[in-house]
Amino acid sequence: MAKTTGRSAKKKMQILCISGPNLQLLGTREPEIYGRETLREIHARLAKRAETLGVDVTCKQTNHEGTIVDWIGDAPKKFAGLLLNAGAFTHTSLAIFDALKATSLPCVEVHLSNPEAREAYRAASKIAGACIGKVSGFGGESYLLALDGIALHLRNTVRASTQNALEPGR
Ligand code: DQA
Repeated sequence: MAKTTGRSAKKKMQILCISGPNLQLLGTREPEIYGRETLREIHARLAKRAETLGVDVTCKQTNHEGTIVDWIGDAPKKFAGLLLNAGAFTHTSLAIFDALKATSLPCVEVHLSNPEAREAYRAASKIAGACIGKVSGFGGESYLLALDGIALHLRNTVRASTQNALEPGR
């Protein structure tokens, strides 16, 4: 039988994954820290995991802080949640923190390495306070775990709001 398409098909939850500066160099960039997997390969694995989870993931990379701010600001038009590896901007960017605070969307902070176990200047995250959680230290797998986390979070949020609508004053 033909698959249901069009209006009657249930819309999948859309998730945006943003990677920041120098992450286009994964594969060759300090492999002893970041591993040998390329960003393209991580994105391909994310797409597969998204399929299993029944969500859609859109992956983007930029080296520019303002572009990340723009993408976060525009995200609510299309997306329900964010994954963000802001690279070095993690440790410096009040603008990205403010953009995350300004958006209504839940965001999971992602890192391949565990910045807190590295140089002292990587220990603090300027954006953590605007995120619902963080996955770090698992190489490319951090992105997949973060996708699992945001999908679970969004599902629970939808379930809770449906419950409230069905049982007001509960
Ligand atoms: C990183 C950690 C940051 O400290 C660093 O500047 C990066 C990559 C990570 O994924 O481990 O560019 O975000």
